[in-house]
Amino acid sequence: MPPSEPDRRSAVVMAATQGLGRACAHALAEAGHRLTVCGRDPARLDEAVRELSAHGTAVAGERADVSQAEQVERLVAGAVERFGRLDVLVVNAGGPPPGDFGDVGPEQWDAAYRLTLRSAVTAIGAALPAMRAGGFGRIVVIGSSSVRRPLGGLVLSNVFRPALAGLVKSLAVDLAAEGITVNMVSPGRIDTERVRALDARTAERTGGTAAQVRAASERSIPAGRYGRPEELAAAVRFLASEEAGYLTGQSLLVDGGLVPTLP
Ligand SMILES: NC(=O)c1ccc[n+]([C@@H]2O[C@H](COP(=O)([O-])OP(=O)(O)OC[C@H]3O[C@@H](n4cnc5c(N)ncnc54)[C@H](OP(=O)(O)O)[C@@H]3O)[C@@H](O)[C@H]2O)c1
Repeated sequence: MPPSEPDRRSAVVMAATQGLGRACAHALAEAGHRLTVCGRDPARLDEAVRELSAHGTAVAGERADVSQAEQVERLVAGAVERFGRLDVLVVNAGGPPPGDFGDVGPEQWDAAYRLTLRSAVTAIGAALPAMRAGGFGRIVVIGSSSVRRPLGGLVLSNVFRPALAGLVKSLAVDLAAEGITVNMVSPGRIDTERVRALDARTAERTGGTAAQVRAASERSIPAGRYGRPEELAAAVRFLASEEAGYLTGQSLLVDGGLVPTLP
């Protein structure tokens, strides 16, 4: 028998109007969670809410820029108020802009901190009281393969994602006794708008085409292809489940074998 509405778990998925966040929202909706999702673009947000609602679970869309702390606090508070509980938080954000050290000035460093690291700190801080009250919590942070190996031309990601990994490990230890798990799922190269834009940028710089860049990139992946967003979302869905309760502080790569480092 499906759970009654107050018994249904509630999940917040940040930055979920396309790409990985949206795929995670689909996976959690399929698993029966009531959802609160956010993004900045109102048209994309409406479309995502419409599409997610087809799973038959309650879905709320909030317009929020996750680099703005008060908007993140409002997003999480709204979810708790709307559904009376918060069980799952998927921490996600848009990617920081590409660039090497010499391309990035103080303003970009500050903006990347607010987008990638502070958004996570704020969202988790806002979510914890409701998770503690329910004696259950699943926090899953979307990272990047840069947590294991720095990526060329993405210095902001290379600096702030490992910081997120440190946050995940610290919190996992602090929260394990309260039934709250904290894990990280990191994409290698998953086929989304972000990856297509990065490929197009590389093509512009190297004088090739985006298709050539992609083909070369796929040759470097042992699986021989880019991943699909739902392949990453499947890992997030499992980590958000009841069954994953003894799994915390882990950092999982979903990368088709791309990064050959030990954990
Ligand atoms: N795809 C990959 O293979 C890959 C690899 C490594 C790391 N990542 C990281 O994983 C995250 C998600 O990537 P993706 O590939 O799904 O990116 P994407 O296709 O560009 O989608 C980003 C999503 O985040 C939303 N968003 C962006 N900035 C936001 C903000 N400030 N506040 C609220 N929502 C925001 C976008 O909607 P709006 O623009 O409407 O706000 C959109 O829904 C990024 O941080 C990316 O760097 C991805």
